[in-house]
Amino acid sequence: MNARIPMVAGNWKMNFDHIEATAFVQKFAWNLKNAHFNFRRCEVALFPSFTSLRSVQVLVQSDKLKIHYGAQAISVTSQGAFTGDVSADMLAALGCSYVIVGHSERRKYHPEDDADIVDQVRAALADGMQPILCVGESFEERRQGIELDFAVGQVRDVTRDLSDEEASRLIVAYEPVWAIGTGMVATPQSAQDAAHAIREDLKATFNDQVAQTVRILYGGSVTSKNAVELIGQEDVDGFLIGGAALHVDELTTICKQV
Ligand code: G3P
Repeated sequence: MNARIPMVAGNWKMNFDHIEATAFVQKFAWNLKNAHFNFRRCEVALFPSFTSLRSVQVLVQSDKLKIHYGAQAISVTSQGAFTGDVSADMLAALGCSYVIVGHSERRKYHPEDDADIVDQVRAALADGMQPILCVGESFEERRQGIELDFAVGQVRDVTRDLSDEEASRLIVAYEPVWAIGTGMVATPQSAQDAAHAIREDLKATFNDQVAQTVRILYGGSVTSKNAVELIGQEDVDGFLIGGAALHVDELTTICKQV
């Protein structure tokens, strides 16, 4: 058992308008309160669309009921003529604790290379938010048997110039692209192999304290049917969940399983 606090993160992507998001959060909070869920034992974070961020924080957060919120993307610039962008300052002002960076869907549909992702990491850190860096191989890399080197390389490409302190505030989400939205979840062993390889590389690049501090989440077709075996892996510290996070009872169950 490691000392890292597990995390369950729900990435709603471009689903739920603010009315649906608010109703979800109210039912989710009711579920967790009635399940006597211990927020000190497992951190819960939701990633609504930017337009829903303000409206979902309807709950009176207390020490017994803490749901964190995060953003799905962040601009690398702080201000200016960047139509559609959202700055770190704006996200922090909206109460974001986390920012997803480098998600495969962002890398695919937006021109975000490693240099952009490094800038996004630094923008989030500068405003006191924790970046969740998404990495993971495609079918092709797995077919070639280079999935571990690929994921480790993606982490290293973004972290190589970070300080120990900056790296220790990072969260990594290993999300094999072939598992996202497909129902083809990684086996617990392959999730563990990737998480362990990433942790070992963090130890080599920085030091053991950074490596033991950074939480490594798994994402890709997580459900209440596979969560228990996945979270049972030594180096898997939680989940970044897409589809299952849109169903309040399913997400509640996964939170209780962690
Ligand atoms: O960011 C998490 C997401 O990409 C995983 O999606 O639907 O496979 O849980 P899903």
